[in-house]
Amino acid sequence: MLLFDIAARHAKKTSSNPAQSLNTATHNGFLLSFEGSEGCGKSTQIRLLAEHLKAAGQAVEVMREPGGTAIGEEVRHLLQHAKAGHVMTHEAELLLFAASRAQLVREKVRPLLEAGVLVILDRFLDSTTVYQGMARGLPLASVQAINAFAVGGTLPHLTVLLDLETDTAWQRIHATGRELDRMESQPREFFEKVRQGYLELARAEPGRIAVVDAGRAPELIHAEILKLVETRRHAF
Ligand code: TMP
Repeated sequence: MLLFDIAARHAKKTSSNPAQSLNTATHNGFLLSFEGSEGCGKSTQIRLLAEHLKAAGQAVEVMREPGGTAIGEEVRHLLQHAKAGHVMTHEAELLLFAASRAQLVREKVRPLLEAGVLVILDRFLDSTTVYQGMARGLPLASVQAINAFAVGGTLPHLTVLLDLETDTAWQRIHATGRELDRMESQPREFFEKVRQGYLELARAEPGRIAVVDAGRAPELIHAEILKLVETRRHAF
């Protein structure tokens, strides 16, 4: 079963209303999302890619999730650092991530895509499928329906999944010495579920999600990502 069956059905149902739905094939921008567990090197790779593309004259915008808008950044604080976070239910957590995404898509992502910008998202809807659905164990059908409602048909052209062994990622997070946030403080088994969840998603959607081995030197990873982006952009 395709994990985005529900999202696709939802997009079809709402496609008669342009304010609710955007067919990603109808504009000139390119939507690229980065995914992976904590410690996988996402931030470094996003920075290297954005610098390279900008130097080549490409209009590029990088945004993170949760966050990316004033509303989204407040939601991010609530999710990661607020004192009240320790009593947050998994259901509330799911809806807060979705709320931040719904705002980001409509306030920023769609206008930028329509202006022909290459939009890089540091996490997008796959994070919710994996963290809240597969790792937290919330019903996948509900998670996918909520994801579909939040994005309203705006889906990535390409998703780069930085895959790293859980032990290596775990050591990287703990080696920083800084205070860990609410999500980073989850037990090791949680991150193993996250890794396996992402790999399962990639097997279900090989046309969109590219798995990149994040255990190598940053320059090698960067070169592979660049090739992926260039190949995929020419297909649109
Ligand atoms: P990060 O982007 O700085 O890694 O922090 C975001 C944290 O939130 C990370 O632990 C993953 C988690 N997360 C979810 O659990 N669900 C989501 O939908 C998103 C976007 C992030």
